[in-house]
Amino acid sequence: MTRRRLPRPSEVRPYLRTGPIRLSPVERRLASAATIWDLRKAARRHVPRAVFDYTDGAAETETSLRRSREAYARIEFVPSVLRDVSSIDLSTTILGRPSAMPLVFAPTGFTRLMHAEGEPAVTRVAGRLGIPYALSTLGTTSPEAVALASPETDRWFQLYLWSDRDAGLDLVRRAQAAGFSALVLTVDTPVAGARLRDVHNGFTIPPTLSLRTLVDMGLHPGWWFDKLTTDPLQFAVFTETGGTVADLINRVFDPTVTIADFGWLRDAWKGPLVIKGIQTVDDARAVVDAGADAIVISNHGGRQLDRAPTPLEQLPAIAAAVGDRAEVFVDGGIMNGADVIAAVAMGARAALVGRAYLYGLMAGGERGVERAGELLRKEAVRTMQLLGVRSVAELGPERVRLRSTP
Ligand SMILES: Cc1cc2nc3c(=O)[nH]c(=O)nc-3n(C[C@H](O)[C@H](O)[C@H](O)COP(=O)(O)O)c2cc1C
Repeated sequence: MTRRRLPRPSEVRPYLRTGPIRLSPVERRLASAATIWDLRKAARRHVPRAVFDYTDGAAETETSLRRSREAYARIEFVPSVLRDVSSIDLSTTILGRPSAMPLVFAPTGFTRLMHAEGEPAVTRVAGRLGIPYALSTLGTTSPEAVALASPETDRWFQLYLWSDRDAGLDLVRRAQAAGFSALVLTVDTPVAGARLRDVHNGFTIPPTLSLRTLVDMGLHPGWWFDKLTTDPLQFAVFTETGGTVADLINRVFDPTVTIADFGWLRDAWKGPLVIKGIQTVDDARAVVDAGADAIVISNHGGRQLDRAPTPLEQLPAIAAAVGDRAEVFVDGGIMNGADVIAAVAMGARAALVGRAYLYGLMAGGERGVERAGELLRKEAVRTMQLLGVRSVAELGPERVRLRSTP
């Protein structure tokens, strides 16, 4: 039988030490999030259901998004052991500029819906992380205000072309004048995808007051208080509102856009031109032939064509086809810094994330975006260390295999 004794006070003391005391509920919420999935959980509790679903959701059966995430689960890393991995360098060059890691905050429309701090918070965090941030045409903060919020951030401007080409041109000039370094033309949105969660939730822009909205106010008073006591939530560069986001896209955007539009855009924009929403080798070749400096292999986070090609699976063939003439980026389904490392090993210059930082934004505003960035960075560093790879340049296709099952 085990003999018992009374512990000495000195033996008990170490167990009584408390962790850092965090008075702010936001800080507590963020500190307990150990992954982007945890931030997603916190976000879900913290914002109205329709806001969470608008961000988290995808088109139709959401198969595109599910497959994008599953593809990262099928990654098998190939490590080398017995390397000195005490110091890891994640830095790289993106569109000719230094970046602290191969990561870009993707353009997301209506960002102040997720949290009143919105785009200025995201651009400031990108600046602190030393990575680029792309502001959306559907942003809720103007290009000038985003520039002012963090002049040192490498800012890209994401453009949708709508029927009024002059308005598009005007926007391009404004972005240039405000010091944005790259133009990102999104080409996977000739019409809106069917975001069924928005339809089921009756989600409209601006949000309409219904009995459900009123009940929701009681459940998420913090979000509503922020909304009602800060600048009104509206698109920063045009005044079209009313109906669902899909209604709005369909009214404003132009399904007649073709590769012929590159000509005038190329002339109008002085910096790098990035084409976002490329999904096949043929389209990658066509846009690079037409003068694109970079492409984003993307299905819009699964929010447009459902059952679309899975970006990570398309990456090796597209990088092989155009990688010597253009920078190749990839996005969709990235929820971990290890996914970023996998994407780079498979041929991407950098990966973009949308929801990963938006979950942080919904969970805790600017501090939440910072937490998301910090998690992605730490996960990326740890993955490199465990892989036995010290720098981004050492990350090659020999480091990853894509299994047929998870
Ligand atoms: C809420 C939300 C809004 C988005 N708005 C835009 C947009 O305005 N323009 C655009 O090019 N892409 C937009 N995207 C797509 C992102 O730029 C990116 O392609 C996608 O989020 C990547 O997938 P991930 O969210 O799994 O990282 C949006 C994505 C989300 C989640």
